[in-house]
Parts: sequence; C-alpha cells; structure tokens
Amino acid sequence: MSNPREADLIHMFKGIPFTTRSSPELLKSLDAIHAREDDVLLVSYPKSGTHWLAGVITKLYNTQVTLTSPIEFGDISKLEELNKVSSKRIIPTHLDYNMLPPNFKNKKCKMIYISRNPKDTAVSMYHYYRENPNLPTIDTWTAFFDLFLKGDVVCGSWFDHFLSWEEHKNDKNILFLFYEDMKKDLPKIVKEISLFLALNVSDNDIQDICKKSSFSEMKSDTEKENSDPNHTVCALTSNRKLIFRKGAVGDWKNHFTPKQNRRFEEIFNEKMKLSKM
Ligand code: A3P
Repeated sequence: MSNPREADLIHMFKGIPFTTRSSPELLKSLDAIHAREDDVLLVSYPKSGTHWLAGVITKLYNTQVTLTSPIEFGDISKLEELNKVSSKRIIPTHLDYNMLPPNFKNKKCKMIYISRNPKDTAVSMYHYYRENPNLPTIDTWTAFFDLFLKGDVVCGSWFDHFLSWEEHKNDKNILFLFYEDMKKDLPKIVKEISLFLALNVSDNDIQDICKKSSFSEMKSDTEKENSDPNHTVCALTSNRKLIFRKGAVGDWKNHFTPKQNRRFEEIFNEKMKLSKM
C-alpha cells in the first residue's frame, strides 16, 4: 500500500481496510442498526457475484422490496435512511461475520452468502481496482496479487472473510451459495433460493428470472440504463457499468503465472486447513 493518495481513499477499522466511502462514524455505530425480522441480508466478499444475486433475489418477490445500499456504505445518516425504508429490505453487505451488527444475528434474519473461486475473485478485483477511482492505483497484476494474498485490499483477507462465514454455514438462517454453481445451473440455485426465502415461485417464473439475470441481459440493461446506473450494491463504487466485466469462470488462468498459481495454492491450503468445504 504505497500509493500517496491511498490515505485519502482507505482507512483501517478493526484491522480491516475500508474505503473512505464507509465513514469511521458509521462503522463505529453499526451495532446500533435496527434489524427487522424479515430483513434479508445479501453477504459477499467483493467481486463474488453480489449484483448477480441481487438481480435474482429482487425478481423473486411479487410484493414490494427495497434493495438498500450496503450497510457499511455512507455516513452516520445511514442508520436513519435504513429506518425510513417502509417495505421489506434486502440489505447487501461485505462485512465479515464478526463485524455484522448483532441485531441481525439476534433476530435470526435470513442471510445469503455468495462465494467464488478466490483466484477469479482476485482477478475480478484487480480489474475493479484499475477502473475504480475510489480505490488506490495499482500498477501491475503482480503487485495486486501480493496485496490480495496479504489481505491488504478493501474488505481484508478473502480467507478470513470466507472462514468467518463458513463457521455459520449450518445455521438455519444462512444459505451458502457459490458463483460457479450459479453459472452451472442457475435455475437449480434460483429454486434453492426461493425455497430458502419461503417464496412460491413457478418453474416458468424461474426460467424467466434466469433469462433476465443472464450476464448479457444484466450488462445491457445497465448500458441501456434500464436499471439505475448510479445504484450499486457495492460499497466501493456507484458506477454500475464497472460491475459487468466478463462474468466467466476460470479467467484466473489468463492472469496467474505457474509460479503465482503454486504460491496461491500453498497459501490456500494452509489458510483453509480449518475449512470443511
Ligand atoms: P468479472 O469481473 O470476473 O467479470 P460483484 O457483483 O460482487 O461486484 O461481482 C462482480 C463480478 O460478477 C464480475 O466478475 C461480474 O462480471 C460478475 N457478474 C455480474 N453479473 C453477472 C451475471 N449475471 N452472470 C455472471 N457473472 C456476473
């Protein structure tokens, strides 16, 4: 983290790098957020498919729902803003389990965690850093690769984030999903989500939702501005156009050198020793 502008863009909270778009006052006050029993939390490490999942979930409801901005995004007025939402709230967040406000845990709100192969997540995040003026400048993929492995990137270590949530994967109110499974068989995962959310959705509607949630449809909706280009579910940008890059599985193979791959695997195996997945 040597970029001179970095201090203006990044600050640390509880040992985790946040962008200055998440104010320290808000982060300190998160525990005061008022949770509602019917809130649905959409949880992810950045670049894991959050927007895709949000697109699917919001289409599953035939009653009014509000997709809010991420809990950790903004300043202290966020608490009030969330309180004012009168319909059911779908609330995204990149917080790790330990930082999640306890009110959501106590009320047993439903939470959906989406994860993605960390190699593809790293590549996606690298491109995001390159395009996003809210994030520090990164000169090369090699430099970013090192930062990612050290957890010296926004939202901290992928491994810590994943492990903090994995510990709770059998909690009844938590559904664990993988980006790769959505790519493989989206209708199956959409069905799983609808059952988890106790929504009665017909097979025809599921097919329709999957069609409307394809990468090309979502990207072109954003380009045509059929969806608000200034509204993202990512605390790191408001520019939706930065989100839809390639939408592929395995793009890491176009970036990792064999040596980087070996190093990644070594660290992955070490850090994930405790993982049951
Ligand atoms: P890439 O950069 O690899 O293309 P997030 O929403 O968590 O920021 O994740 C963004 C990643 O999800 C980007 O990955 C983006 O292209 C991908 N993505 C977004 N919508 C998608 C969709 N409908 N289908 C597949 N991938 C999608």
